[in-house]
Amino acid sequence: MPFKDKIIKEKVPQHIAIIMDGNGRWAQQKGEHRIYGHTAGVESVREALTAAAEIKVKYLTLYAFSTENWNRPKEEVDALMDLLVKTITSEVDSLNKKGVRLEVIGDMDSLPPGCKQALEESKKATANNTNITLILALSYSSRWEITNAIKKIATDIEEKKIAPKEINDALVSSYLNTANFPDPELLIRTSGECRISNFLLWQVAYSELYFTEVLWPDFKKENLYEAVYQFQSRERRFGKTSEQLLENE
Ligand code: FPP
Repeated sequence: MPFKDKIIKEKVPQHIAIIMDGNGRWAQQKGEHRIYGHTAGVESVREALTAAAEIKVKYLTLYAFSTENWNRPKEEVDALMDLLVKTITSEVDSLNKKGVRLEVIGDMDSLPPGCKQALEESKKATANNTNITLILALSYSSRWEITNAIKKIATDIEEKKIAPKEINDALVSSYLNTANFPDPELLIRTSGECRISNFLLWQVAYSELYFTEVLWPDFKKENLYEAVYQFQSRERRFGKTSEQLLENE
């Protein structure tokens, strides 16, 4: 039976985050340049987004470019930015048809002006869509995000907008780039690497982690459904005992 048919509709995670990894290795295995892998990876972005929307996931966050990725060869960085601009611009109609709202987290000011502008335009053009929110993490790193949050909290204390005793989980969350989104229940990483790589460190506190050997360009709808199926077979206890969970059902 296909994994999609095994998924329990009422227990679909509302937010899935994905570390899309393995584009470079996929291309190199084929004797091609790494950029060929990133281009092929765009199709997997479509597959993951369509699959997520079909099972009514409400938020899909994709780690498209990390702060550390700026250290890659200039040729690769330029090609990735170019690919992003082209994809975001050419996909707007399709996003609108599918009811996808585009959002971005990360250091927008570090992006090339053309890329920033394309993102702003696509965000605006899709702002009223309600089926699913696609959150692209671009020039993003979690330590950067948390450091910024701490700076803003310190400033707001200095300016007497908040008092130190008001600081709690919810307040910290509200200072993060992800303030308007729920935490992901499921984090997927492709390509066999078992690391978080500076991605959503605060937000994945209680997320289920799912690692697959599949390289990102080979990731298809069925792979996402398999991850959701595995997620549903796990018990999420949030520090409680199994018995306590049963009592609360
Ligand atoms: C990781 O593979 C992938 C990236 C750093 C870029 C992801 C970008 C895309 C899939 C294309 C554009 C995306 C959107 C949202 C339009 P890697 O290069 O680190 O692979 P490797 O570990 O095999 O070297």
